[in-house]
Amino acid sequence: MQYLLAIESSCDETAAAVIDDSLNVRSNIVASQEALHQRFGGVVPEIASRAHVERIIPVIDEALQKSGVKLEQLSGIAVVTEPGLVGSLLVGLTAAKTLAWILDLPLVAVNHIEAHLFACRMAAGRDIFPAVGLVVSGGHSNLYDCRSETDLELLGSTIDDAAGEAFDKVASLLGLPYPGGPSIQKAAEGGDPEAFRFPRSFIRDDELHFSFSGLKTAVLYEAQGIPGRHETPPELTPQRVADIAASFQEAVVDVLVAKVRLAVRQRGHRAVCLGGGVAANGCLRDRLEQAAADDGFELIVAPRELCTDNAAMAAIGWKLLQEGRTAPLDLDVTPGLVRAD
Ligand code: KG4
Ligand code: ZN
Repeated sequence: MQYLLAIESSCDETAAAVIDDSLNVRSNIVASQEALHQRFGGVVPEIASRAHVERIIPVIDEALQKSGVKLEQLSGIAVVTEPGLVGSLLVGLTAAKTLAWILDLPLVAVNHIEAHLFACRMAAGRDIFPAVGLVVSGGHSNLYDCRSETDLELLGSTIDDAAGEAFDKVASLLGLPYPGGPSIQKAAEGGDPEAFRFPRSFIRDDELHFSFSGLKTAVLYEAQGIPGRHETPPELTPQRVADIAASFQEAVVDVLVAKVRLAVRQRGHRAVCLGGGVAANGCLRDRLEQAAADDGFELIVAPRELCTDNAAMAAIGWKLLQEGRTAPLDLDVTPGLVRAD
């Protein structure tokens, strides 16, 4: 049996995992920084990098210990190098390079988006491509034509906020805790999704791009009133918060589902994979299941623990290793989106 150590630190989770060459996850450790960023309502890059520095070695140690795999049993080191926050990415990369150098092991550079979609491949336990891929997270809302694990064509992305970012911002203006996605989902359970008819931005009906900033502004006006108008909005009672949360969630999900269905029609694929933090959303999962049944495609969703950021999904590094796509020790990070090779 061979083992890969995977490291992920692209945003605000410090993560390490050990995965064997049959893609079994031997350990998957995630140190969340939620508590550090909570009072700011979003990730503060400088705080994130400092926390990664403090946590990276304990997290790698714990991943090795839990897996029962010793450093000298490893066959390679995989590390997420793009896209993400530059300071955060650099911490993981420096740890990975150091280990690769000391242990004389091959290093592979993993793309975070490809890793999110690979989590679906891991869940399926078999080859799932070609497929339409939707990655919805705090930083991205991207639709892909996935020809293979590492051959993705970007079909559409957001022109303003990412879906998860919209969840986080709307939660903050409703007074719900960060991260916003789980808080909105929870609040929405007691709300009426038809209480407010928030705008759905389809940009153009035949296009696969997203926009969520208009929706966010509509929620802001509903919650806090329109500047310059003198009437104050009704008090934000728990029921009103629940109704706004449910109506907002419904609007986001309507748009995501419609664009996935359009991408399936345009590309003629029979499978859809869904990854990224927002893929943990129950309403999105249910509605896409329904669309899959209606339109006759297979929906492959990562288990919830592999939706939000983690290092196990960097098991895609095995694929890169097998293809001989190793990286040199002067490898650098690539913070910006997107590698469309
Ligand atoms: O993939 P991820 O952990 O980090 C990025 O790559 O950005 O995604 C985090 C995002 C946050 O915006 C969070 O609010 C959202 O995923 N999220 C959710 C849910 N759980 C996490 N959004 C909607 N519903 C959820 N249940
Ligand atoms: Zn992510």
